[in-house]
Amino acid sequence: MSFLLKKLVLLIFLQVTLSQGSLLPMLRKTHVRLTNLLGEGSNLTIHCKSKDDDLGVHVLPFKGSFEWSFKPNFFVKNTLFFCNIQWQGKSMYFNSYDEERDLDGCGKYCYWDVTLKGPCLLKHEGGYDFCSDWPNKKV
Ligand SMILES: *[C@@H]1O[C@H](CO)[C@@H](O)[C@H](O)[C@H]1NC(C)=O
Repeated sequence: MSFLLKKLVLLIFLQVTLSQGSLLPMLRKTHVRLTNLLGEGSNLTIHCKSKDDDLGVHVLPFKGSFEWSFKPNFFVKNTLFFCNIQWQGKSMYFNSYDEERDLDGCGKYCYWDVTLKGPCLLKHEGGYDFCSDWPNKKV
């Protein structure tokens, strides 16, 4: 391709992506955070993973947080982080970031409070969007 043609193609690409407003979100990172709000003296054990990344096992004291960030795959909306959380003999899995679900939901800041009810996704204006319940049975 000639230099001029390359330039033209790039210009058209930029024009299209910018006009759709889709280039900027592509460049921004998504942040996911889990916070232990289970009460004084509680220790929450978390283990989050995606297909490609294992974020390791972490023990969060009361009010402790664990946060990570990543660039979602913009063209194939399939980024998924799932977590196992354990507390007082209870254990459960939940999706802490599901690009298909969360891209237009929590967006770039997906903050979870792990409460006595279960992990709850925070609304940006305060309050909870929804909670997944802890299982009734202990393991
Ligand atoms: C939580 O962890 C701290 C530090 O390891 C420990 O001192 C405390 O006893 C733990 N609390 C419970 C309820 O297991």
